[in-house]
Amino acid sequence: MEIKRAKISAVGHYLPEYRLTNFELEKLVDTNDEWIRTRTGISERRILKDPDKATAFMGAEASKEALEVAGVDPLEIDLIIVATVTPDYMFPATACLVQDMIGAKNAFAFDLSAACSGFIYALTTGATFIEAGNAKKVLIVGADKMSSILDYSDRTTCILFGDGAGAVLLEESEDETGIISSIHHTEGDTNCGLYQHAGGSLHPASHETVDAGQHSISQDGRTVFKKATIGMADVSLEIMEKNNLSADDVTWLVPHQANLRIIDATAKRMGISSDKVMININKYGNTTAATIPLCLYDWKDQLKKGDNLVLAAFGGGFTWGAVYVKWSL
Ligand SMILES: CC(C)(COP(=O)(O)OP(=O)(O)OC[C@H]1O[C@@H](n2cnc3c(N)ncnc32)[C@H](O)[C@@H]1OP(=O)(O)O)[C@@H](O)C(=O)NCCC(=O)NCCS
Repeated sequence: MEIKRAKISAVGHYLPEYRLTNFELEKLVDTNDEWIRTRTGISERRILKDPDKATAFMGAEASKEALEVAGVDPLEIDLIIVATVTPDYMFPATACLVQDMIGAKNAFAFDLSAACSGFIYALTTGATFIEAGNAKKVLIVGADKMSSILDYSDRTTCILFGDGAGAVLLEESEDETGIISSIHHTEGDTNCGLYQHAGGSLHPASHETVDAGQHSISQDGRTVFKKATIGMADVSLEIMEKNNLSADDVTWLVPHQANLRIIDATAKRMGISSDKVMININKYGNTTAATIPLCLYDWKDQLKKGDNLVLAAFGGGFTWGAVYVKWSL
């Protein structure tokens, strides 16, 4: 039986206009531009200010751009997967809202929750539908309105995150390029080192949960930092070994953008120089599921057909993984 392979055939993005700079944050919490830049690599992040717009809107805008670039009609889309931890509603899925907003009437749609690893988990899932012959055109969206779950009086979290969305179109590859290989891991964290305490079925929203500030992100920053540094580096090496890739063979490392120090440590373990690493954390902060497609968007004009990309991410769950992509455009 002929084995099908999925390829990325277009990339789209959406970034809100408002720039929340480190200097603005200095006015909100006890922090400073120098601390934030040296400890995280972030200078500013984008914030979606319009109260009537959220994750689905950003995901739909990114999807429309990808479809326009590819010249594909929304009615041709078979499947939409939205990776997010900031859905517009608990239900229906944000992917269903995106389907309606872009007019993809023939697609089925669902959300995938894997925090900062969401995009690569969704990419592998979408590729598998194409490989199995169960879908021909798939939209993979990474979108998060992190500002909706941040406490802007908590300096340990509010400085880290921003809002944004990225989308890629997956189609069947006709050559040796495409999504070649994936490795994913999970280490279930019932101790909740990185989580949103309330709003789910265990702690439904109440006056008490709101008063206690339990609807915002809570994290043990040092533990997450250590786990992310080890996890991202280990899985990046794992995917290189699995595919017999040397450091010279890797054209680009496309890392999740959580902290510049985590990215640097991953590149160093892989033996990759900094000029081969996509970094935009300085401009957007950590946009959770959107960081990797936003990197692909920012670098799309520099990418060449046949380039070897290693996509790597770590996030809440804990979840982590890497995907080897041979660029198709
Ligand atoms: C959050 C993070 C940037 C903190 O950096 P760090 O070097 O680990 O800093 P620490 O937590 O050890 O704190 C060092 C000091 O800076 C202080 N500090 C924390 N945030 C600060 C801020 N925004 N401004 C100034 N000082 C701050 C701490 O209170 C602490 O002070 P103390 O030594 O007096 O107690 C870092 O741990 C991190 O990036 N973790 C990963 C988070 C992440 O990416 N999560 C998303 C999913 S992957």
